[in-house]
Amino acid sequence: MDQAKVLHQAYEVSAQWFDQVSLSPLGNGHIHHTFLLTSSQHRAHFVLQRVSENVFPNPYLVQRQTRRIIDHLLKNEEFSRRYRVPKLQPCKNDEFHYVAESGFWRVWQYLDNTQVLESLEVPAQITLTARAFADYQRVLTDLPGESLVETIEGFLQLDFYLQHFSLVAENLPRDLRNSVARLRKRDLGFSEFNAYVHADCKVNNLLFNVQATRVAAVIDLDTTMYGHWAWDFGDLVRSIAFSRGRVDLYDYQNAAKGFLQGLQKPVTEQMVQEMAKVPGYIAGMLGLRFLTDHLMGDVYFRVSESGQNLQRAREQFALMQQFDDNQKHMKDIVKGLSENLAKQFY
Ligand SMILES: Nc1ncnc2c1ncn2[C@@H]1O[C@H](COP(=O)(O)OP(=O)(O)OP(=O)(O)O)[C@@H](O)[C@H]1O
Ligand SMILES: [Mg+2]
Repeated sequence: MDQAKVLHQAYEVSAQWFDQVSLSPLGNGHIHHTFLLTSSQHRAHFVLQRVSENVFPNPYLVQRQTRRIIDHLLKNEEFSRRYRVPKLQPCKNDEFHYVAESGFWRVWQYLDNTQVLESLEVPAQITLTARAFADYQRVLTDLPGESLVETIEGFLQLDFYLQHFSLVAENLPRDLRNSVARLRKRDLGFSEFNAYVHADCKVNNLLFNVQATRVAAVIDLDTTMYGHWAWDFGDLVRSIAFSRGRVDLYDYQNAAKGFLQGLQKPVTEQMVQEMAKVPGYIAGMLGLRFLTDHLMGDVYFRVSESGQNLQRAREQFALMQQFDDNQKHMKDIVKGLSENLAKQFY
C-alpha cells in the first residue's frame, strides 16, 4: 500500500486521540504500519499503529489479549522493576482502539531514551535478549483467567504448515523435495503446549537503553499465545544465526545462558533435548512457510521480485541442516550451562 496514503489516513485517525499532531514513520516493522506521533497538546510522543488485518484477521482479539498481558506485566513487581511496559493510550471516547474505514488503529505510549538494535554485535547483548524473552515467558506463566488463544491460526506449528503445504505441493526441484522429505521425517515434537510464548522473538522486538547495555522493554506482543516454551528460544537462535549467515555455537551458548537465567528453573534432560532440537524445527517450519507462500503466489510474505520466497525457503532449509548437524554440540552446551546454573541458584 502506498505510504503517502497510509500517512494521510494516520493524520485523519489521530484526531480521535489528539487535536494537534505531527507524524513520521517509525521503525522497520514488516507487519503493521507504525508512526511516531508527536502531540503538541501533551508535549509528548506516542506510537500510532494500524494493525495488519491481513496477518491478524481478528484485531479485536489481539487487542483484548494485549490488554490482559500488559495489565499482568505491570502487576508483576519484579518484571516492572526490570523492564518498562508500554501502555495503550485511550482515544477521546475512552476506547483503546479506533476502527476507521482505513482499518483498526491503536496508540501506544512511546518509550523514550530507547533504541532498537537491528543486529547483536556484543555477546552480552545476546544473553540479555534471550533473558528478556524468557523473563516475559516466565512472568506470563500465572496469567489469570481463560487462556490466550491463537491470534494467527497454527502459528509456528510444523504439522499445521505441512498440511497446508500438501495442498499446494507440485513439481518441486530435487533439493526442495529433499528438504521437505526431511521435515516430514522429523519426529514433530513441540506439539504439547505448556507455556504462554511471545512467538516473535527477534532482537528488533526489544527496546534497549541508549547505551545498549540493558533491555528496556519487550514489545510487539501480538502473537503471544499458548504454545511450546522452546519455540521462543528456537526462534531467537534461528534469527541470530540468520543474521550471521550461519550457525555459530558461541552465539548459541550466549542465547542459551540468557534464556535459562530468565526461566529460573532446573534444567531437565527433556529440556536439554528440546533446546538442541528446536532451532532446526523453527528454521524448517519457516522454510516451509516461505516455500508454500511461493507456490501460492506470494500472498503472505511481501516480495520485491518473484522467486524471493523460494530463495528464502532455501536459506532456512540450509540453516535447518546446519542446526541439525550441530545437535550434539548444542546438547553439550546446554548441559554445561545447566550444571553451572545449578551451582549458582540451587
Ligand atoms: N512503545 C514503543 N516505544 C518506542 N518505539 C516503539 C514502541 N512500539 C513500537 N516501537 C517501534 O516501532 C517498531 C515497530 O513496532 P512493532 O514491532 O510493534 O511492529 P511490527 O510491524 O509488528 O513489527 P514486526 O516486523 O516485528 O512484526 C519497533 O521496532 C520500534 O522501533
Ligand atoms: Mg516488531
